[in-house]
Amino acid sequence: MKKTIDEHAERFSEAASTYDDEQDSEAYHACARHVVDHAAPTARETVLDLGTGTGAIAFELTSTADCVIGRDISTGMLDEARMKASAENIENIKFAEGRFREPNLDSDTDVDIVTSNFAMHHLSDDEKREAITVISALEPDRFVLGDVMFFGSPDPEEPFYSPSVDDPATVGILTDALTDVGMAVTEVEFIHEQVGVIVAEQQ
Ligand SMILES: C[S@@+](CC[C@H](N)C(=O)[O-])C[C@H]1O[C@@H](n2cnc3c(N)ncnc32)[C@H](O)[C@@H]1O
Repeated sequence: MKKTIDEHAERFSEAASTYDDEQDSEAYHACARHVVDHAAPTARETVLDLGTGTGAIAFELTSTADCVIGRDISTGMLDEARMKASAENIENIKFAEGRFREPNLDSDTDVDIVTSNFAMHHLSDDEKREAITVISALEPDRFVLGDVMFFGSPDPEEPFYSPSVDDPATVGILTDALTDVGMAVTEVEFIHEQVGVIVAEQQ
């Protein structure tokens, strides 16, 4: 991790009010679309969206899921998400503070699907492994991870990320971490040489 959790939280809280309007890259929107499509919850399923931010993925899933739980470290991003839920009168969505390695769930919460979009790259590779262990322990049917990830060597002239604050992994490191906790990687979607979606299922 190149910044502490508090530093990341503060950075995102400062940017929260303009975050949605600033997501103008094709790769971000394509990645979000693939995460939503692969998550595909049914009306009986609960989704946990980690690093939910202002709820880009979480809101999309409310139309088909029973319930969507959004967790994030940034109070500013969560406030934006809650305002949208209230303005749109969406009741099957719940936002609260929580982090990848401590999602802050009630002990009786059964999670069917875990999603995460453009958030895990804030963790170091060791922390991503710890987060994947925590996610796997929730025993979801599948984990859909959309993120900045390297398919080859990233072009230093065109980083899709900010090297000073972001810490993306290679696709190989992510797939190894998922298979090491016993999940089966069933899809790897190439969106851009630095952006992809990985679907991992419980075996
Ligand atoms: C680029 S935003 C992505 C938000 C949303 N998922 C989307 O697709 O627009 C990254 C989010 O990850 C959150 N985040 C960063 N580190 C985190 C951690 N360790 N645990 C949970 N959320 C984290 C940030 O606060 C921020 O809201």
